[in-house]
Amino acid sequence: MDETDGVRERYLAAIAAAADEAALEAVRVAALGKKGEVSGLMRGLGAMSPEQRQTAGPALNALKDELTEALAQAKERLGDAALEARVAAEWADVTLPGRPAGQGTVHPVSQVTDEVVAIFADLGFSVAEGPQVESDWYNFDALNMPPEHPARQEHDTFYMARSEGDNRPPHVLRTHTSPVQIRHMEAHGVPCRVIAPGRVYRADYDQTHTPMFHQVEGLAIDRDISMANLKWVLEEFCRAFFEVDGVELKFRASHFPFTEPSAEVDIRCSWAGGQLRVGEGDDWLEILGSGMVHPKVLAAAGVDPEAWQGFAFGMGIDRLAMLKYGIPDLRAFFDSDLRWLRHYGFAALDIPTLQGGISR
Ligand code: PHE
Repeated sequence: MDETDGVRERYLAAIAAAADEAALEAVRVAALGKKGEVSGLMRGLGAMSPEQRQTAGPALNALKDELTEALAQAKERLGDAALEARVAAEWADVTLPGRPAGQGTVHPVSQVTDEVVAIFADLGFSVAEGPQVESDWYNFDALNMPPEHPARQEHDTFYMARSEGDNRPPHVLRTHTSPVQIRHMEAHGVPCRVIAPGRVYRADYDQTHTPMFHQVEGLAIDRDISMANLKWVLEEFCRAFFEVDGVELKFRASHFPFTEPSAEVDIRCSWAGGQLRVGEGDDWLEILGSGMVHPKVLAAAGVDPEAWQGFAFGMGIDRLAMLKYGIPDLRAFFDSDLRWLRHYGFAALDIPTLQGGISR
């Protein structure tokens, strides 16, 4: 059986020498494949005499089994080695800091709305709401602006379309938050102290006007609320909101159909170097309209003007945000992106605490 022994030594050596699984597979094909050497020897059994076959047959079968077993073991060994090599090469440093994930941010208008609500809550005001698509009556008539009133033209109103033949007065996108005054008094009566923040709409677009913007309405009705209370509330608010000592307000006599007397309020600011700063400089920016609620408005809301009186104001939230955060162009609020927000220091859910509140 010299021949078989030679084959055996040769293939066992080749198996031991195979450097990887591909080399090992080549050895297997050469020995045990269809055209392999051992397969060839086994085919030769057919041509042998029965005596020769009796010894050669078991020897060849044993050889085949031995090589098969050696191949399996070698395959396992090479597989382990390959895995170890990969583990050694492809390591990961689990102590590295993670890649930063994309961050969302709170929009400055939302943040400022929250700040405004918090300050007025400290002053005893709760929050009221009303619809953005408003009836003509709530937006104008109930606020002492009958259809022919010239002030209606000043509002650059967006009118909702009516279908052909529908001759009811059109609904409008509310032009201010003042209709919430009426809705609140109708629903809850007086006395009351509420603010109503929300979206309002006017056909207007330039550096300090966008067609959609935000106002916060204020309303305080009781037996003897006066203009002095209005002035105090607004000054307290501005001091707390801007966190600047010496915020200066100017009350300018004005006219609104729904207040009498009326005042527009400007805040001292500077635009030096294109940078908007509050509490310094020689410029004034109008931030709100205000006054004593007109008796006709109280009556329209079902409140007796002989027994009750109070003040109302409407403030531009976007203006407040511009002033507080030094943002020069209002349009940037509504057509900009996260890089812009980050530029002004807004981070995810980073709502500055209202340091010291309003009691300083
Ligand atoms: N509604 C007014 C406006 O939008 C503001 C205002 C509100 C004035 C309440 C007086 C009282 O311009």
